[in-house]
Amino acid sequence: MTLTGEKTGYDAAAQRSEELRSLLAYHNRRYYQSDDPKISDAAYDRLFAELKQLEERYPELLTPESPTQRVGAKPLDKFQPFLHPSPMLSLANAFTEDEIRDFDARIKRLLRRSEHMAYVIEPKLDGVAVNLLYEDGTLVTGATRGDGATGEDVTLNIRTVAAIPLSLDGNGGMKIPRQLEIRGEIVIATAAFRILNERRLVGGEQVFANPRNAAAGSLRQLDSRVTAKRTLDFFAYAVGMATETHMKTHWDVLTALQSWGFKVHPFARQVEGIEECLAGYQNLYAEREGLSYEIDGMVIKVNDLALQDELGAVSRSPRWALACKFPAYQETTVIEGIDAQVGRTGALTPVAIMRPVQIGGVTVSRASLHNQDEIDRKDIRIGDTVVVQRAGDVIPEVVMVVASLRKGTELPFAIPTTCPVCGSAVVRLEGEAAHRCIGIACPAQIKEHIVHFASRGGMDIEGLGEKMVYQLVDAGLIKDPADLYALEAEALLMLERTGEKSSGNLLRAIAAAKTPPLEKFIFALGIRHVGESMAKLLARRYAALEDVMAATIDELTAIRDIGPEAAKSISRFFREPSNLKVLEKLKTSGVAPINNLFSAVMESTGAFSGKTFVLTGTLERMTRQEGKELIESRGGKTTDSVTKRTDYVVAGTSPGAKLAKANALGISVLDEGAFFKLMETP
Ligand code: IVH
Repeated sequence: MTLTGEKTGYDAAAQRSEELRSLLAYHNRRYYQSDDPKISDAAYDRLFAELKQLEERYPELLTPESPTQRVGAKPLDKFQPFLHPSPMLSLANAFTEDEIRDFDARIKRLLRRSEHMAYVIEPKLDGVAVNLLYEDGTLVTGATRGDGATGEDVTLNIRTVAAIPLSLDGNGGMKIPRQLEIRGEIVIATAAFRILNERRLVGGEQVFANPRNAAAGSLRQLDSRVTAKRTLDFFAYAVGMATETHMKTHWDVLTALQSWGFKVHPFARQVEGIEECLAGYQNLYAEREGLSYEIDGMVIKVNDLALQDELGAVSRSPRWALACKFPAYQETTVIEGIDAQVGRTGALTPVAIMRPVQIGGVTVSRASLHNQDEIDRKDIRIGDTVVVQRAGDVIPEVVMVVASLRKGTELPFAIPTTCPVCGSAVVRLEGEAAHRCIGIACPAQIKEHIVHFASRGGMDIEGLGEKMVYQLVDAGLIKDPADLYALEAEALLMLERTGEKSSGNLLRAIAAAKTPPLEKFIFALGIRHVGESMAKLLARRYAALEDVMAATIDELTAIRDIGPEAAKSISRFFREPSNLKVLEKLKTSGVAPINNLFSAVMESTGAFSGKTFVLTGTLERMTRQEGKELIESRGGKTTDSVTKRTDYVVAGTSPGAKLAKANALGISVLDEGAFFKLMETP
């Protein structure tokens, strides 16, 4: 104030900044504690910006508890030790129902009581315990637990956690002790943990094994600006030293914590007697997987603070509290070997063979490592100690290697270059994560191969569907596609649900499939990347199967619409000895594909070689597709739009703009009759 009683600019700024700080603290609580914001994010940002501006203009106004200070400060060299005003105890664990009942019985015995005890039950949050020291309602220090007596001073990092009030709310009717220790757990939400790990994976950084490690790693950053980016959260569950309080029960403590602006986990509740504790344990366990934060058990606490005092502590754990643990999600074990398993589609999947370990009541000894990239990224070697995880019904997964336990004798793994099942070559096509066996007769894939071989787009063998193929393979009657042609009625009759008639039909259908169109035969071989249309391209370009087989990668790549990957795949397929054996066997069985598409053949017989057609309007005697096939089988091609290069337009009824364009360009227009006539002209 000036002598005349006017406020100076500084005074006004001081008053406003105080106002802003408490407004922002209030809205922060609404947002983080109650999940019930009262103003928009934009309005919050405006208040925030106003405060920041004032503090920049008058740096004297800047207080450590200003919300503008949550963004992190300059990196530290190391953390300073912090002596906890009152020691941070740990909890005794119980793993069985008996142990939980023993806890209750022991308390009753010590207190010489027979009636039900009043307890509070809370989730055991799986994060990092911290101790927050408030003086006159202002946060002065935040520290890790350390050995319980001395922790590390991580105040700068603690300040970045939005759920931790920088100054306590005294308006809730709960008096704030002049000196006050708050205990609780720093946690990271499962969803935030996943996002963090994905980002680290992309950045080539080591992932965190679990949310607890992520929370601990984030809290122990020397650079608090890093912590500020980690979306840490905080739940309070106890008061340590407090200069003066009127609280009588633990429930009073939780109520006070909430009124001061802390989050208390919504599951916390008062119960009577151990049976209600056990029921609560079951409920919490059932909810576990659906919670936003990982928990590793339930804590039971004697509600009456005077009784807590009376019970006291043994070996740094209070007698009045118990951690009832849930089965762990993660364990560590050793990778004893890695197997490559061949799947139905030829993909080789590396599978970790591990020293058996119990996770959540199930023995885990194998886990898929998915593919070589995954192994390389996690740098998994045979002999490594690894963290293995299995949540609920989810299949076990190797999370990470415990690199600190490496001895140097661990062996790196590479997918074998030949198939462990059939010995054929194993290749990895570009753009694919999987390595694949390319053997057409590979027993691991044979069923899928033969189903594909016989399918409509392939050899089109009627009656040879999945069920029949599986029966034939399982009965040992066929080991590769060529074996189909050696099948005999007698053997078929031995199969379930196969009578004279159906086996006769099947044998006839197989015999009829000895002279397939070449493109269907090529498709039937199941060469990776070779679909029906690519099979057609090959048949158009090469007169006979032998020519396709002899084609070089360069030659194949030169064909329009065949890319380098497909070319490589085709060339490899026809160079694999086990495939050549099957092709030879097919030939000896009398399978001889016929090529109707080869243009050189068409040139001498067909009329349409080198001609371009456009089909338009409604056709009566054929579908568009049939027309297209008729033209292509005679060496011609069809396009969608009429250009100068179009030779013929075949027009049905209501032809539209294409006809007009053809007339304008002077292109021959045929009706269907004329088209069929042209086709028959030698
Ligand atoms: S009370 C004297 N309550 O468990 C009792 N602890 O082994 C002090 N924890 O270090 C702890 N949730 O990290 C308490 N609701 C809860 C808890 C909890 C998790 C952790 C905490 C502590 C450890 C005790």
